[in-house]
Amino acid sequence: MAIEQAVIEEIKFRNNIEDVISQYVTLKRAGSNMVGLCPFHSEKSPSFTVFNGEGNFYCFGCGAGGDVITFVRKAENLDYRGALEFLAKRVGITISESSQDKKESMRRERTLEMNKIAARFFHEKLMSDEGREGYEYLTKKRGLSNSHIRHFGLGFAPNSFGALTELLRSKGYKDHEMASAFLCGVSQKTGRPYDYFRNRVIFPILSTSGDVIAFGGRVMDDSKPKYLNSSDTPAFKKSRNLFAMNFAKNYCSEQIILCEGYMDVIALHCAGFMNSVATLGTAITPEHARMLKRYTKKVIISYDSDEAGQNAADKAFKLLGEVGVETKILRMSGAKDPDEYIKKFGSESFRKIVEDSETEFDYKFGKIMRKYNFSVTADKVKALDECEKLIAQTSSAAEREIYLYQVAPKFGIAPDAMKRDVERIISQRRKNAAKDETRKIMTSSEGYGDRVNPDFVKNPKAATAENAIIGLLLMHPEYVRELENKGDPITADEMFTSLGKKIVGAILEIVDKDVTDSSALQGALGEYLELEEVERAAKLRVSRRALTNNTISVVYECRKTLGESKDRAELGIDDIIQKKREQAKNGK
Ligand code: GTP
Ligand code: MN
Repeated sequence: MAIEQAVIEEIKFRNNIEDVISQYVTLKRAGSNMVGLCPFHSEKSPSFTVFNGEGNFYCFGCGAGGDVITFVRKAENLDYRGALEFLAKRVGITISESSQDKKESMRRERTLEMNKIAARFFHEKLMSDEGREGYEYLTKKRGLSNSHIRHFGLGFAPNSFGALTELLRSKGYKDHEMASAFLCGVSQKTGRPYDYFRNRVIFPILSTSGDVIAFGGRVMDDSKPKYLNSSDTPAFKKSRNLFAMNFAKNYCSEQIILCEGYMDVIALHCAGFMNSVATLGTAITPEHARMLKRYTKKVIISYDSDEAGQNAADKAFKLLGEVGVETKILRMSGAKDPDEYIKKFGSESFRKIVEDSETEFDYKFGKIMRKYNFSVTADKVKALDECEKLIAQTSSAAEREIYLYQVAPKFGIAPDAMKRDVERIISQRRKNAAKDETRKIMTSSEGYGDRVNPDFVKNPKAATAENAIIGLLLMHPEYVRELENKGDPITADEMFTSLGKKIVGAILEIVDKDVTDSSALQGALGEYLELEEVERAAKLRVSRRALTNNTISVVYECRKTLGESKDRAELGIDDIIQKKREQAKNGK
């Protein structure tokens, strides 16, 4: 599994951290560093900093930090290996594969091959006698033409338990492969495989590079479940893919229409809205939001008009807002979803409602106004309260002013009266946030509830000394050798917490491979540590870096403190009390 150290260094060297991060975050120069809005938490003023000279980033808001590999791991949700491959590909380096990786990419390849065979099988069935029911459903009931069917590669899964399974088997695929590709299920009773999709019309899902990665299958009547969708397979993650993105990617640089259903997207594409996509039977995820941000400037949420759809819209606003893509929502009346809307009112009318789509504020304001009956005073007061809270969420004072003048007249009150309330809400929120922040800092400085390093709290003094040592070694890997040469080598066992032992153990192993450059050392940590542990190490390095004295003598001091306070902790509280008693008895 190991990738050669020299290759890792080459990958890091050729992937300038500033260039890589710029693809995700708009960076502005601030002195010798670059700053921007952190992609890993939601913030209004930039605390995300890139130290280009050192090849590091750090967010002073959420503590995310590390080198370019760590950044890609987080931003693309990849493991260490995946991030290295991603970066290698970016600069045209090929990593020779280990046998484990070969196995994995083989599984992926074979899954894609099976999917291709299955997609062709389903499509042929749809166009044959056997698929008549599916064909009639799609053409007569859903109004699709042959060319639409071909364009989307729609298909039909016959009502058979073995047709596809047999076909794949005859081509040499093993039962367990078909099962992990979600093309067949395995009977619990007999252990025999059977076709997963049966008697359904089939929607193949393509990746942006054109591979068939999954399927959705819909019943042709009202039976349940309405849809079966592939779960995650070696070639597919539903949290990272969008239906029809393979088509939409060429039409969406200005805006994307985000729907809920496959049928909505198909209807929209047929009506000329080629920039529409849908999530795959799942709510929108942060990964989807990041993906959309990469493709477009603006997302038009076009969900069903029922309550579920509207609740899902709130989540979409939130996630898309966090990645900083402009988001609007379509208001549809007289139809439950875009598919029905187009059929009833035509594409021109749909184009009109896309143009008239609302901002998050207008949408939420409208919702409040519809929820309450203004002739009941108590309701009117509640509505006013909700409107004030909504306005208070806007960070720009000028924007708030506009909303105040828009909203206050609806309640028959002066904008200024409302403004005072809004400002009070804002200052209350700020106070609460500050309190939370203090609480967070207090608890984290004492190490309480520290998931990554739960041992910290057992002996904060020892653990703090340990943190300093780790920070220093990460900044100056050469200290490891210097200590060795002085006949006083540092060991992992000296550390107090198990995380400390793990990090120092990793540092020693890496330095042992003759890595003496700080940035290379940090890059290699990912092979030994979990992502959040790598981030913790990066944090220790950054906080150490902020201090002025980072000479080897600090390492000596901290080792001494660590040794002493560690012993004390090992004595245990009862021993200490006992010792104190004895000291008192002896008159000391
Ligand atoms: P039509 O009823 O044919 O218009 O379907 P639709 O594509 O408009 O789907 P709908 O709005 O009912 O649901 C949105 C999406 O949720 C679908 O495209 C599916 O991906 C998913 N979905 C709907 N029903 C089910 C279900 O019963 N099971 C699963 N797993 N997913 C479903
Ligand atoms: Mn629908």
